[in-house]
Amino acid sequence: MSQRLNRLRAEMQRAGVAAVAVVPGSNLSYLTGLDMHINERLAVAFFPSAGQPVMVLPALEQPRAAAQAHFPMRFYPWTDSEGPHEALGRAMADLQLDGARLGVEYTAMRVLELRSIEQAAPEVVVGDATPILAALRMTKDAQELAAMRTAVHIVERTLEVAISQIKVGMTERALANIWDAAMREIGSAPSFGTIVASGPNAANPHHSNTDRAFQPGDLIIMDGGAVYQGYASDITRTVVLGEPSAEARRLYELVQAANAAGRAAARPGASGEQVDQAARTVITQGGYGAQFLHRTGHGLGLDVHEPPYMVAGNTAPLTLGMTFTIEPGIYVPGVGGVRIEDDVVITADGAESLTTFNRDLIVLQP
Ligand code: CO
Ligand code: CO
Repeated sequence: MSQRLNRLRAEMQRAGVAAVAVVPGSNLSYLTGLDMHINERLAVAFFPSAGQPVMVLPALEQPRAAAQAHFPMRFYPWTDSEGPHEALGRAMADLQLDGARLGVEYTAMRVLELRSIEQAAPEVVVGDATPILAALRMTKDAQELAAMRTAVHIVERTLEVAISQIKVGMTERALANIWDAAMREIGSAPSFGTIVASGPNAANPHHSNTDRAFQPGDLIIMDGGAVYQGYASDITRTVVLGEPSAEARRLYELVQAANAAGRAAARPGASGEQVDQAARTVITQGGYGAQFLHRTGHGLGLDVHEPPYMVAGNTAPLTLGMTFTIEPGIYVPGVGGVRIEDDVVITADGAESLTTFNRDLIVLQP
């Protein structure tokens, strides 16, 4: 854990910031071991480039935070009757942050914290700490990878259970419930809202499950993940209930080839843009480029969506230990859709797919 702090300090020095402010969530948990959820009571941890980390937090949270933190932190507790502003002001004054450069999480910090920080230190210069924190978190250590492998194992075992239950007349919601229940039964939980999109609904990549009943010939997209020790898996497989149409088969073959091309392109030194391009080219050449509506993948770890992103414009090189998804898809209104999603880790000479579930088209008996 102090190794993570040392890496954070090195990244901060490179970026020239005096401190990084972190709110409850995955970055705080990654850096300190604190398992806190953001709520209406202000809590902010400050990591100075030198010296002890400090945390402004509700007094009632202090005992648990002190017990969970993997290293000593200096606490500035506040009570409900006092409010957070005096404690925050003292913490920021002790850290001499007024006039200094402070990194904050642009996608996690709220107006509440930012306004309070700016009120406590009006001359503070706020910038985005996301690249600093992402640089740490993108590369997984052995312990993190072990947790992700277990999360993958759980989701694949339970996906198999769920697929075996599919029959004509079952609804999308019922199938999602079966998958979710199977994960919970073995002590895990879904890492995000499980997606089951069937027939014409499969043409919508971010479908909300409905009570539509499966019909013969349906393509059924199943997208789910499990959590283990805080780490997420995220897999998608598309099955067909009964004989697929010629077009459904064509969509499937293209997406399967695009998924393979994306996995083959993932290696140290390649960029997220190149991985996206490798998968996208297969689908574009197959005539469905306009129906591949989203980026090819996203980083995966404590968060289900985190850097690095497999997307045009991301030219940063992939490096050893980075974990992300490869999930090309084709979505055709009126026909349906296909997505095949794997979780990979960058290795010395390429990428290993943590997910190994059968990628060939599974044709279920109706
Ligand atoms: Co997914
Ligand atoms: Co995904």
